[in-house]
Amino acid sequence: HAPVDVDLSPIAPGQQIVVVWRGSPVFITRRTSESLERLKSPALTSRLRDPESKILQQPPYAANWHRSLVPEYGLLVGVCTHLGCVPTYGAGSADPAQRGYACPCHGSKFDLAGRVFAGVPAPYNLPVPPHRMLTPDRVRIG
Ligand code: FES
Repeated sequence: HAPVDVDLSPIAPGQQIVVVWRGSPVFITRRTSESLERLKSPALTSRLRDPESKILQQPPYAANWHRSLVPEYGLLVGVCTHLGCVPTYGAGSADPAQRGYACPCHGSKFDLAGRVFAGVPAPYNLPVPPHRMLTPDRVRIG
């Protein structure tokens, strides 16, 4: 499988693009400072089902609160950990700072770091694909 190089510069703050890597969608979001603050807030973190990502769902360098190399950019494999549907970006709130993902199949909800909320069918966070920055606005997935 060839790695996929992605130019991040067209992604506006708060927006997402989707690329395909190994046949799966990969969500790339450019996160605002407000949404990053929210990822750290106890109001959110107290509601997570898999807060420690104990089942390996990210490379070691993404085992942090923002689950990526660079906080501004989130990369997630867009495959629900319940039964594999593709979650939808931006559902759940009109407030961009609170947006995350909602799975259209059985209602699982994830935050902007792909962390699953309690009380939904999906047991684990969305996986983070292996990635590294080639330049400050160019990432290699895989
Ligand atoms: Fe996503 Fe079931 S496949 S909630």
